[in-house]
Formats: sequence, structure tokens, C-alpha cells
Amino acid sequence: MKIICSRNQAAGTADRMIYGHFLEHFHRQIYGGVYDPYSSFADEDGFREDVLSALRRIRAPIVRWPGGCFVSAYNWKYGVGKNRIATYDKAWRVEESNRFGTDEFIKLCRKIGSEPYICTNAGTGTAEEMSDWVEYCNLREMGRYAKARIANGYPEPHRVRYWSIGNENWGGHEIGAKDARAWGALVREAAKMMLRVDPTIELSAAALADTDWNMELLRAAGQYLDRISLHGYWGNTENGLVPDDYKTVILHTGEDISGGIDRVRATLTALGLEKKIRIAYDEWNLRGWYHPNLMDIGNRSALRGETESFYRDEVIGQRDKNDINSIYTMADAVFSASFLNTCLRNCDIIDTACFSPAVNTRGAIFTHKNGIVLRPQYFVFDLYTRRLKDTVLKTWAEDAPTISGQAWGTRKTVDTVDAVITCDDNEYAVAAVNKDPAAEQELFFRFLEETPREMRVHTLNGPSPDAYNDIDRTRVGVAISAWRPFEGRVTLPPHSVNVIELK
Ligand code: AHR
Repeated sequence: MKIICSRNQAAGTADRMIYGHFLEHFHRQIYGGVYDPYSSFADEDGFREDVLSALRRIRAPIVRWPGGCFVSAYNWKYGVGKNRIATYDKAWRVEESNRFGTDEFIKLCRKIGSEPYICTNAGTGTAEEMSDWVEYCNLREMGRYAKARIANGYPEPHRVRYWSIGNENWGGHEIGAKDARAWGALVREAAKMMLRVDPTIELSAAALADTDWNMELLRAAGQYLDRISLHGYWGNTENGLVPDDYKTVILHTGEDISGGIDRVRATLTALGLEKKIRIAYDEWNLRGWYHPNLMDIGNRSALRGETESFYRDEVIGQRDKNDINSIYTMADAVFSASFLNTCLRNCDIIDTACFSPAVNTRGAIFTHKNGIVLRPQYFVFDLYTRRLKDTVLKTWAEDAPTISGQAWGTRKTVDTVDAVITCDDNEYAVAAVNKDPAAEQELFFRFLEETPREMRVHTLNGPSPDAYNDIDRTRVGVAISAWRPFEGRVTLPPHSVNVIELK
């Protein structure tokens, strides 16, 4: 494949907020993940220092919290102050200790140098509760909530700039789901109250790649919003054990990602909002989380006879399957890099993205008693946040090979090589993914202005597409070549993610 670019033809500037992460009160993400006061890795505030330093290394720019489905029945007021009351989490059917609340979340963000991004409860919650949360976080001292924050030991406002109203309130699975008309009205009223507390905050609202939903939402509340939130998961695991195979995964790296973005772009453009409102892809990952037997419409009858052992083993116990590290392979790395490349190509309309989640469940970092495991997708963030530049150039491809096959019951064709060229005033950094499970791919470059003279290549890979890391087992990692003369081409190994630095 040949890729052509010109320094004078930029697609735009990538916002580093696309390298964000998400943490939910689910399974071991918070308790036993980032926060574990009894761990030998715990710092003075109960946070796992090994996890914090891994998050610092990938320069997590923003972290979305506390959910996900969890937030749609979450009352933030139980999670602040000295007397934390344990509550029953109706989203995930477990007890929530509330030991980790708003102040701990802000502390986490400060420790890793991230922006806090709070998702509000638009399920059982009210516009007033959402705006009270903004008061607690952002007002210096006026009102009862700012005073409560001060009394809780935080005299300075938390200055939370990024907020999203609701989580997936379009879906029947969500507590407090709404129809589009009701959703537009709630978002409008919540936004008005939140902005009356702090007009400097930036707001997103739960949406999806559905024109009708977005039209209702944007007509009702577009004037108050800075973003709309999209979520995406593309892969599954059979019985929580057998992940989709590599070939199936890569067939989801094309239209299945970009199609939804194009639909939202069309709606925003139709409403003349494409310069005002951007997309926050604030939950994305290849694999959906595994949490079977959660009471929803589908299996009500099966749960009618639920016993304690069923609840323990088939509802809660099953979630431990998310911890099986062999599920997370080079397929996850290749998919994650393809997703981020899509965000870079759409940097004019996507300025935020949150990998879901950062820690445990399907996350990039896995914690265990004696340390952490860095899963393949972790290194994609390592490479992209540390090596890529901010200017994204438009590119033209010639002789681009493709891969075709069946996935989700339809025939799909995707590019074998996904390459994005970024640059700054001095250097280029090319993010190039070779999705081919077995064959190398030659990538030829044509720079319309000066051609770089030197090249260095960072290659994330493992011995096979199914290679994975685990406790006492490292098969996937990054190899860095030395600087060498650039001959206008590079060889991409099979099933690999590469960053090619050129100067
Ligand atoms: O499976 C995890 C859930 O996926 C998140 O809580 C929700 O936002 C999404 O549907």
C-alpha cells in the first residue's frame, strides 16, 4: 500500500482527550482496582500506587466516573462526608459501601493528572440533584453543598469542568430509561440548572447513533450542550469464556466503527451544530462486559426461582470471568488502535473518548494481590499518548489491500492496513496497524513536500494473534528499533500496531 500526504493538508488537530478512560462501580474496577486500602501497594489514601503509576504512564487525560448503568440509581450525596451509608446498587444488584465517592474520585484524578469527568444520574435522579452535585464540586462557598464540601475537608472547589447528563437513558436495560421527547426535556432542564451553578462547565448528554433520538435531544437541548455521548462495544465472549476470534474482531474495525460517527456527523450538520457540538465516545472497548443473569426483560422467568446460590454463582460469580487474562489478546490491541485511528481521522468532530474501563473487567490494567498485568490494549495507549503528534494530516491511499468475511451475519470488508499520519513542526509520527493475521504488509510513503531522512519504529506485538499477558507471563509488548535512514517504506509485521517516527 502507498500512503500520500502533504504537510499543508491537515484533517485537524487531535484532542488528547480521545485517550481518556472510564471507571465504574462494577466488579473490581474501583474496590480492589484503583482503590484498595488493604493492598500492600496502597498509598496513604488507599489508592494502589502501582495502578496510579501505570495510569500516569499512559497520560490518562480524562477519567469518566461513576458509571455506566451504576449511576442511573446512584445518589452522590451518600458518597461524601464522614458518615458514609452503604446503599443497595439496583443497577448491579450488589451493596455499595460508598467509601469511594466524589472526593475520592477527585483525589484519584489529581494523583494521576487527569481531568475528572462526572456522569450524572438521569435515571432516578433529578435536574436538581445534578445541579446540587455541581454546587458541591464547583461553588467556592455559597450554599449548603459547597459548605458541606468545605466541612468534609475540601476548602478549595474541585473545579470539575466536564459533565455528562445521564448514561444510555435510551435503553431498556437502563434504570430510568426515557423516550426521546422526555429525554430532551430532562436534559434541557438539567443543563439549565447546572449551568446556572457554573456557566463554565462543559456538558454532554447520553445519545447514540440514532437520528430520531439525536434530533429530539438536540432540538430540545442543543443550545446548552458541548457534546453528545456515544458508546460502543463490538465483541462478545461465549459464556464469558470464548472470545470472538481474531478474524471476526478485525471485521469490526471499519464501517462498524465509522458508520455511527458519520450518522451523528450528518445529524449535527443538518442542524447546523457541527461546529458547536462534538462527539464524546465516552465508553468504548472491543469486548462488552460479562454480567449475565442481570434481571432484565429477557430472563425474568429464569430468575423468578432465584436462590442464594444462583445469585452468588450465576449473577455475581460469573463476573469474575472478566478477569481471565487470556481473553485479551493482540485482537484487542489491533481493534483499540483501529478505533483510535478512527477518532484521529474524525478529530474535527470527536474530541473525547473513554476506554471502558481503565482497570479490571475488560480494562487495560489487571490487578492481583502481588501486582498488575498490562494487557495488550494498554500498550496502544502507551504508544499513542507518548509518540503521536497533535496535527492529523489528510492521507490518500493507493493499492490498499482489504480483508473480507462474515461478522454479525453480514459480509464486511475492511482495510488490511490502517494508517494515520500525525506531525508537529519537526517530525512525523505514523500510527500504522497491520490487521493481517499472518502476512507482513509493505507500507510505502509519498510526502508531497520534503521527505524525512530518518526513521524509528515502535512495534506492539506478540508471537501470534492470540498472544496475551498474564501473571508471570509476558508475551505482548513493544519493541523499539534504532534510528536508521528512511527509504520511503516500512514493513509492518502481521497482527501488529506500529508507530513510525520520521524526521
Ligand atoms: O456493560 C457495562 C455497561 O455497558 C455500562 O455500565 C453501560 O454504560 C454500558 O451499557
